[in-house]
Amino acid sequence: MIARKVGIGRQSYSMPTLATKVDGLNFPNPFIIASGPPGTNLNVIAKAFKEGWGAVIAKTVSLDAAKVINVTPRYAKLMSRDGREVVGWENIELISDRPFKIWIEEFKRCKEMFPDRVLIASIMEEYRQDAWVEIVERCQDAGVDGFELNFSCPHGLPERKMGAAMGEDCEILEEVCGWVMRAARTPVWAKMTPNITRIEEPSRAALRAGCQGISAINTIRCVMGINLQTLRPEPAVEGYTTPGGFSSKAIRPIALRMVMEIATMMGREFPSRSLSGIGGIESGGEAAQFILAGADTVQVCTGVMKAGYECVKPMCEELLAFMAEHNFETLADFKGKSLPYFTTHADLVGRQRQRKAAQKKAVAADGEWSADSFAQQSDALSRE
Ligand SMILES: Cc1cc2nc3c(=O)[nH]c(=O)nc-3n(C[C@H](O)[C@H](O)[C@H](O)COP(=O)(O)O)c2cc1C
Repeated sequence: MIARKVGIGRQSYSMPTLATKVDGLNFPNPFIIASGPPGTNLNVIAKAFKEGWGAVIAKTVSLDAAKVINVTPRYAKLMSRDGREVVGWENIELISDRPFKIWIEEFKRCKEMFPDRVLIASIMEEYRQDAWVEIVERCQDAGVDGFELNFSCPHGLPERKMGAAMGEDCEILEEVCGWVMRAARTPVWAKMTPNITRIEEPSRAALRAGCQGISAINTIRCVMGINLQTLRPEPAVEGYTTPGGFSSKAIRPIALRMVMEIATMMGREFPSRSLSGIGGIESGGEAAQFILAGADTVQVCTGVMKAGYECVKPMCEELLAFMAEHNFETLADFKGKSLPYFTTHADLVGRQRQRKAAQKKAVAADGEWSADSFAQQSDALSRE
């Protein structure tokens, strides 16, 4: 959709557009399929593009899928108390277990089928420069438009020193990003794990190494529950479990906080880099909140698993309606617009004290008139 001026009588207003350019890539809208089951083969990726998703980040691939062995069950849902709604979702799924050769074929075919759409490869490798360079070169030769580096899978892969094991170590992360940046000819986003205290630190390390953008967040390490009959934790595989990754709407406030923290840091230190917000997004209004907190794009994984690919249409409509209501023509018009309103608790106390004092205090001598609270002071001297 293109922004255009519409005239009614003497007034003229602009139709908002969701189209956006990030790191040189053209997105018809900011809604991106996050790496996971909704981008796990060409069939489903094609479905996503046909339904109107702005881009697809494919399921994370590695060079040797034979080392990736999944278990069943690997998901567990947290339901609302009335049992009607999925509010949280645990997975102990690994990265893609499909052979790399097949993925390369599918990346090529996907770009033949959808030459104008943005296809991003999510990649993960062991801590070896040759492996990271090889996976980057083979994926970009297949025509992908960009990369997301998965430094964030919280289960299984860290046992092989991959995924979150790298994302938790700023030094290793910066080194690996450096290897990738020397090989990549397309934009690279580094995907952060939330399972750390200060998410700005690994984000800064990735940006220092030259990555064009940050994606945040991946899933939060969790234990879904313990069965009170069997006393075994769930999801139980042969009676045992391992902590997994928590996603869906319950993680949204944490994701929004982390996106805000990264955006604040990027605004000061890396103002031209991009940010992709992820975590529990299921509506256009929720996407708007992530953009107000500094995101350029938003990603959805569990929301698609719950509602199907079609959910992108109402999301786009709701985001456009929000923009129209506020007279925003483009996403840039409101990106980061809420960031100035985050401050410290001490500052909140100071502001509140100031407001109360200004409200209550009547001017006793002319020297007490203040430029900031002149109207309140006048009001305080008025008859009720
Ligand atoms: C079943 C499942 C599998 C996932 N697999 C991957 C993956 O292969 N690579 C990756 O970077 N993130 C993976 N994720 C994480 C999502 O991309 C996303 O960061 C996270 O789920 C939070 O977003 P959401 O609440 O919209 O799902 C997976 C998530 C789920 C639920």
